[in-house]
Amino acid sequence: MITLKEVRKNPFVLEFINQTEKTLKIQNYTDHGIGHADLVATRAKVLAKELNLSKTEQELAAIAGFCHDFANFLSRSQHNYLGALTFQQIFANDFAPKELALIMQAIAHHDKYEMEFVSPIAAIVVIADKSDVRRSRVTIKDRKSIENDIHNRVNFAVKSGRLGMDKKKKLISLSLKIDTNFVPVIEYFEIFTERMMFCRKAAKFLGYKFGLVINNFKLL
Ligand SMILES: [Fe+2]
Ligand SMILES: [Fe+2]
Repeated sequence: MITLKEVRKNPFVLEFINQTEKTLKIQNYTDHGIGHADLVATRAKVLAKELNLSKTEQELAAIAGFCHDFANFLSRSQHNYLGALTFQQIFANDFAPKELALIMQAIAHHDKYEMEFVSPIAAIVVIADKSDVRRSRVTIKDRKSIENDIHNRVNFAVKSGRLGMDKKKKLISLSLKIDTNFVPVIEYFEIFTERMMFCRKAAKFLGYKFGLVINNFKLL
């Protein structure tokens, strides 16, 4: 099995992330490029470690986290399935069948809110991915365009965010500080309800509760 370090150097992976970044930027999406890939990989690894998964599983979670969005340049609506298959095309000889299957499944399921989880790796990638909201994810600079799109508004308003884990309370929580002058908390519900329910489902599979705290106000 190869490690995240090697996957992160693979020219196909880097080019696919680069093309994804370009493709989604044109459509005014938030950052799905290398910044998002690195953050999700790091968060996935930390979560896997905290959950006492094996070293191999920690690495699989990090790799799936890094590659989960890299097929967006092919199709936004099918990027999760295409990502899983693309991963297999590149790395078929670098992983054991089971390792490959776990990574492919985590990539394929990260946007499938109706899925029932069967592996902790997929559940971890969902939490690592859906918790990435931050001002620097907004790629457009023009203030009017930011204000016109709820995803950009919601990300732009986040001054800081932290994903925490309390092992004693069995709680994974996302704490955000948002600028309520820029966006009312109610807009967070519009964007976040579905995502946070998905995180909750993922956390539950891992034996945890999921909490959302906005400006010290517990919403979940
Ligand atoms: Fe995605
Ligand atoms: Fe993502």
